Amino acid sequence: MIQLPGLIDPHVHVREPGQTHKEDWDTATQSALAGGVTAILAMPNTKPPIFDDATLELALSAARNKARCDYAQFVGAGPDNAEALSALANQSAGLKMYLDSTFGELRLDDMSLWTPHFINFPKHIPIVLHSESRTMAAGILFAAIYDRPIHIAHISLKEEVLLIKAAKERGIKVTCEVAPHHLFLDKDLTGLTPGRLEVRPRLASQADVNALWENLDVIDCFATDHAPHTVAEKDSASPPPGFPGLETMLPLLLNAVNEKRLTLNILIEKMHSNPCRIFNIPEQQETYVEVDENAAWEIRAADLHSRCGWTPFEGWKVKGRVRRVVLRGQIAFEDGKILAQPGYGRNIRA
Ligand code: DOR
Ligand code: ZN
Repeated sequence: MIQLPGLIDPHVHVREPGQTHKEDWDTATQSALAGGVTAILAMPNTKPPIFDDATLELALSAARNKARCDYAQFVGAGPDNAEALSALANQSAGLKMYLDSTFGELRLDDMSLWTPHFINFPKHIPIVLHSESRTMAAGILFAAIYDRPIHIAHISLKEEVLLIKAAKERGIKVTCEVAPHHLFLDKDLTGLTPGRLEVRPRLASQADVNALWENLDVIDCFATDHAPHTVAEKDSASPPPGFPGLETMLPLLLNAVNEKRLTLNILIEKMHSNPCRIFNIPEQQETYVEVDENAAWEIRAADLHSRCGWTPFEGWKVKGRVRRVVLRGQIAFEDGKILAQPGYGRNIRA
């Protein structure tokens, strides 16, 4: 048995408000606990998006009633809300800016719309960018010009990790995360229908995947980008992009530790220490995760807690399983059972 600190997932799509048929604060935080995650940072591309005082309250009131683990909620950059959001900054996980096309309405196509956010949002709270390839390069230039920290979500390409490395070497305040699906899957994956394969950023080449593993020291965090959509939606004529990931991230990474592709210290650094530092998350008292590093098991969607009902890792055999999660002195998860009640979760920013 190994004891880990409480793990933080800085990138989760909870889907509430608005799309609770996919997931809600209850099921998302059940998935988190079953995956050894004791705090989640929730993305703002809900329905409506979280982009002002009233919509932030909508998300936080649902979380207050339903969350079983700790949390904070991102606010989303829109065309004309930069000043309003800077006033909400301290109540938020951070500011999310969607600079490339993805699921939901939040999107800043026009570069002139980026500037007010970079100028107004307080520097002690990160701006997280969904920005791929050349858009990411532009985002890094903005960070340099406005001299403020940015965090790049879900990097997937060799060119991205190498540019972030170069930017860090020059003292630009950029951090980044990688999602498990970009570490364990590539675009030549077979056995998933085209709809299920849809995800943004798309799965990349084997060369890109290799470059991510070779440059793990450049990558600050592991983050799921847990993006649940139902089986019916994924198998429909217009499948939305996204994979669930909360319950499979830690087992996949523990399996990689078993295969000596990773050390436990690196895992702890990227799932606890670094996210706590980057996102200003205070230490969760009396909080830890016990894992059986030798338990071999098979991932099956039917056993997972997400409402979406599927996983891209169906049938994968992994070694490493979460046995118990203690959150602020209470057993929150034990041997497959969720014990924390809805509403037990606390807002990290409250
Ligand atoms: O695949 C994705 N799904 N990428 C995103 O950026 C958004 C996410 C979602 O919300 O479904
Ligand atoms: Zn996302």
